[in-house]
Amino acid sequence: MKKIILPSIVILGIFILTSCGSDSTKNNTSTTTTTVAANVSGEDVYKRTCVACHQPNGAGIPNTFPPVAQSDFIADREKTITQVIKGKSGELVVNGVKYNNVMPPQNLTDAEVAAVLTYVYSNFGNSGAPVTIDEVKAVRAKQ
Ligand code: HEC
Repeated sequence: MKKIILPSIVILGIFILTSCGSDSTKNNTSTTTTTVAANVSGEDVYKRTCVACHQPNGAGIPNTFPPVAQSDFIADREKTITQVIKGKSGELVVNGVKYNNVMPPQNLTDAEVAAVLTYVYSNFGNSGAPVTIDEVKAVRAKQ
């Protein structure tokens, strides 16, 4: 039963988030163990943190910044969470195209990482389940 209720709460949280504007929720970053990134706007985090490189439409910049839009890389959720937490330099292949650049580690809370990746997974032509704070915590614990 828990397995069904939890995703529903996540989806409801995102619905509430997107329907009530983000400014009032921005400063309310929760550090509790909740699995829902309900009070952080992934769109805000993306626009503040990722947009300069990955661009507003997620398409990146050819040969320099890989796309997060319809990227085959993000099918691996653990790798994707690690990418944001730790950054990466060196060779990386997205949709058959090789990149060799540097992404600095992103200094974000677990809630912000969950929210921004949930935003990435549900925009830019992507379709992936929301990323939970617990998922991010679990990946961070392995670093
Ligand atoms: C300073 C530029 C820069 C910023 C800021 C940045 N990235 Fe990246 N990102 C890169 C580069 C460059 C790579 C490829 C790294 C390599 O070549 O090894 C990359 C790779 C990735 C990848 C894996 C490849 C792909 O495109 O699917 C993901 C996912 C990603 N970034 C997400 C994010 C998210 C989410 C943020 C914001 C929280 C972010 N990045 C911020 C430059 C950046």
